[in-house]
Amino acid sequence: MKEVLEEVEIRRGRARAGGGAKRIEAQHKRGKLTARERVELLLDEGSFEEFDMYVEHRCSEFGMEENKVPGDGVVTGWGTINGRVAYVFAKDFTVFGGSLSEAHADKMIKIQDMALQNRAPIIGLFDAGGARIQEGVAALGGYGEVFLRNVLASGVIPQVSVIMGPCAGGDVYSPAMTDFIFMVRDTSYMFVTGPDVVKTVTKEEVTAEQLGGASVHTTKSSIADGAYDNDVEALLQMRRLMDFLPSSNQSGVPELPTRDPWDRMEPSLDTLIPDNPNKPYDIKELILKVVDEGDFFEIQEAFARNIVVGLARMEGRTIGIVANQPLMLAGVLDSDASRKAARFVRFCDCFNIPLVTFVDVPGFLPGTDQEYGGLIKHGAKLLFAFTEATVPKVTVITRKAYGGAYDVMSSKHIRGDVNYAWPTAEIAVMGAKGAVEILYRAELGDPAKIKKRIDEYQKRFANPFVAAERGYIDEVIMPHGTRKRIARALQMLRNKHVENPWKKHDNLPL
Ligand code: HXC
Repeated sequence: MKEVLEEVEIRRGRARAGGGAKRIEAQHKRGKLTARERVELLLDEGSFEEFDMYVEHRCSEFGMEENKVPGDGVVTGWGTINGRVAYVFAKDFTVFGGSLSEAHADKMIKIQDMALQNRAPIIGLFDAGGARIQEGVAALGGYGEVFLRNVLASGVIPQVSVIMGPCAGGDVYSPAMTDFIFMVRDTSYMFVTGPDVVKTVTKEEVTAEQLGGASVHTTKSSIADGAYDNDVEALLQMRRLMDFLPSSNQSGVPELPTRDPWDRMEPSLDTLIPDNPNKPYDIKELILKVVDEGDFFEIQEAFARNIVVGLARMEGRTIGIVANQPLMLAGVLDSDASRKAARFVRFCDCFNIPLVTFVDVPGFLPGTDQEYGGLIKHGAKLLFAFTEATVPKVTVITRKAYGGAYDVMSSKHIRGDVNYAWPTAEIAVMGAKGAVEILYRAELGDPAKIKKRIDEYQKRFANPFVAAERGYIDEVIMPHGTRKRIARALQMLRNKHVENPWKKHDNLPL
């Protein structure tokens, strides 16, 4: 018996050694943790249960028969995050660069199937070079099976990817089909093909960082939803994120205890809007002052900063926030902002997370740059997303709600449930100056007349009451009572049930 027990320990030890001391040292030297160290940090202490640590690849090409490492480059299993079940796989870069063999794929697939069947989130920690070159089509087949499961689980359980090393091929395409991608600055990269291949094919010389570093993917491509300075911070933030996420599309949102009174007044909000309507203010100040304990998990903070999206809580229950940001491009909607917000709205709707929308938008951004870039289609994405969403939708217009952007930003007409406006709201087809310049073109040579016209327009339309008179605004609320109003609206909407007409799926303007 003792020998058998020892044998288990020996085998476990071999698997835990991964690619060996030298490669682990190299991993640490690069500032990266090993796969198992990462899993330990991500999950509650002692909760990780590993599966399949003895699995080895079945490849006999290129001398691979002699080169086997138990576990085969991926650590898989499940554990808990603040007590809630989560499935996890972590690519082990020290074993064949974390690349995916048929056997490695089987391990991932097992975990993906378990997560879906048992309706719990799955988190992938990526540090890997894609399909294992020595296995050829068997590895490609393996990736196909992983992709299939990514798609089937989409909208059923949350799938989160953390990029923690150089990732290529399938190790970027699989994350691309999950709900969120986070990266680690300076040590992680994402590209379909690496710098060497780029140089061969296009003669372009780029570094891994220039091609697919965290700054590229958080600011330019918008592939990544956020980036952190190191592995530890990234993993701790993933624990924080998981506290916001429902376990599945049927579980309902998590409810955390909070000491923040739901009816807390916030008098400072009464002076948030500057007297000059063209002066910016920070919409994040409003968000932080309204939500529970100022706890806001922002998504895509560095991309399309003219719109702010992220997760927060009201009365301990998760909500999604969408807010125009007057500090950036006056909060205008452009293609990037529309795409960013549309994806977030659809994420929230999939998982029954109520949406709270703060509106201060001067319209869509004019110009050839935007029009040639498909603003019509991208803007339509956001309109489509808000319209199809059946979750509780609460909207607060703080200042401008002009033109098509008024309709798009969760207005009453596209099934906003409770639509509030602050007394400073201006709901109109466009701003006073633009409107007068079109309506009174003939008088443009007479500044005194134009000023009078602008004042008239301002008085008549730059307020919330024209809309409120029609019932497009349910109530004009005082800024200091915004938290209480939103909390009450969400309480009232808790059992909201709306179904869209049956369809196979819709045809979102992609
Ligand atoms: C087998 C691989 C590998 C792979 C890396 N290694 N990628 N082994 N298959 N795909 C091995 C290396 O041989 C090396 O082994 C070890 O992992 C570390 O790799 P290095 O190159 O030394 O590390 P680094 O310089 O940091 O570069 C990392 C890398 C690079 C950027 C990931 O290795 C790379 O470009 N790999 C190939 C990426 C790729 O083209 N993959 C196929 C994609 S196709 P030793 O023994 O020396 O330590 C694909 C299909 C899916 O995935 C379908 C998509 C739709």
